[in-house]
Amino acid sequence: MRRKTALKLITFLDQNQAPGAPLTVRLQNAIRRLIAEGHVREGDRLPSSRLLASEAKLARDTVESAYQQLEAEGYIERRLGSGSFVAAIEPGLLASPRKPYISPKPEAVLSRRGKEIAQSGGAPDHRDAHPFVILPDIQQFPLETWRKLTARVLADHRQASAREALLYAEPMGRADLRQEIAAYLAAHRGVQCTADRIVVLNSSQQALGLIATLLLDAGDSLAMEEPGFHGARLAFRNAGLNLAPVPVDAEGLIGDALPSAALEARAVYVTPSHQYPTGATLSLERRLGLIRWAEATNGWIIEDDYDSEYRYDSRPIAAIQGLDHAGRVLYLGTFSKVLFPGIRLAYIVLPESLVPAFVAGRTLIDGHTAPIAQAVLAAFMREGHFTAYIRRMRELYRARRDNFLEAFDRHLSPFADPVHPAGGLHMAAYLREGLDEAETVRIAAAAGIELPTLSRLYLGKQKRAGWLLGFAALDPHRAESAMRQLSHALSRQAGAEHGRRRQQRNA
Ligand SMILES: Cc1ncc(COP(=O)(O)O)c(C=O)c1O
Repeated sequence: MRRKTALKLITFLDQNQAPGAPLTVRLQNAIRRLIAEGHVREGDRLPSSRLLASEAKLARDTVESAYQQLEAEGYIERRLGSGSFVAAIEPGLLASPRKPYISPKPEAVLSRRGKEIAQSGGAPDHRDAHPFVILPDIQQFPLETWRKLTARVLADHRQASAREALLYAEPMGRADLRQEIAAYLAAHRGVQCTADRIVVLNSSQQALGLIATLLLDAGDSLAMEEPGFHGARLAFRNAGLNLAPVPVDAEGLIGDALPSAALEARAVYVTPSHQYPTGATLSLERRLGLIRWAEATNGWIIEDDYDSEYRYDSRPIAAIQGLDHAGRVLYLGTFSKVLFPGIRLAYIVLPESLVPAFVAGRTLIDGHTAPIAQAVLAAFMREGHFTAYIRRMRELYRARRDNFLEAFDRHLSPFADPVHPAGGLHMAAYLREGLDEAETVRIAAAAGIELPTLSRLYLGKQKRAGWLLGFAALDPHRAESAMRQLSHALSRQAGAEHGRRRQQRNA
């Protein structure tokens, strides 16, 4: 009987559905199947580990570890001196492994909103540093300092009295971090706030979703820069808002176009320090114009200040938030660009009266941000590492921007016209007349280069073709070699086109 069982087990082991899994896991699956299909019943004795090991040509340890696991899960009982037996199995433990798992078809089960989200593909971020990706250079980050600060924070929290870092934490964020953020914003960004008007979040993306659901109703209009940030567009669409595109020129969002383009708009989303994607800085006059619009219409200004720490040629213009005295501005900042995106820390500065609603809203999404990371960042800021890091990186990125522009001029100027970026980590480049954006992307992809495009950032039909290129993540040699490669690929294609047209003419 036990030999028959062992042979059956060997058959199941050979047929095992998970051939890449370790032998001990495959053996567990085979024994579970043996029990589920009724080949052995409660109280039946299983082959000894020695017998099974020798019949199945397995190491004894492999069999032992499978038996131990099955005992822990309640499938078998092991009695010292008498062997291993099939246990009295709780109903439900044996979901038939033969029944295939049927995954519901998304189109049949998703809500209308769910289908839209699925179709949009969401706003996934780039995860690795390749040429032209818009990321900070994470290689530069002082991880050793971060490690020491983390160790200190954990050491502090080891004391029983300080264990609160392991519990649920304040939905608004830790007070020490909010104080550091308030002091930094006052000193460097001209933002007027106190710590009790700041809510710490995981990302600006999260802030945009909260704003859209707390301040606007489905069907309300929101004005957006055209072209503009796709992450914001998707967050606002997801909240059912109507989006009114407002054009952008070299001075940022054209405020004069606001009343007509967004007559009904309850809010406007802007990236005034460094317009995404064009790089324009919103002029002071237009900032004041936006505030006048908000006051006159009781509208909201959503100011996304996502990378203004990196400004290379002049001092940054004060945030709109600092110019507003009517409490119409919601100011968003993130540590994704200035430090590193994996930190998942961002914040929103709110008019005082909105704080309770945002705190309540936050509890419905994910409660709060992980307190240990907040405590480490608070120490990083308090001890001067943050401002020192910004100063160092500003110099590095400025040099990279200059190198990037020079290399662009050498290699890519026949194809596109770059916009000189006054700050940030990326620049736009408009394609020259006659070039097809999708075709350039295809050629680049064939050469192994991912080329993010500009046209996808427009809401309306009138789009400008171009590229959006990150210059900060990689050293200048890698950036230049990618440009050279891209230039060769585009030239080859242009040469081939030219030849084809000449042949057609001569035929
Ligand atoms: C305009 C703008 N806002 C916000 C973000 C993202 O910030 P977070 O990572 O905090 O969502 C980005 C990132 O690309 C951005 O371009």
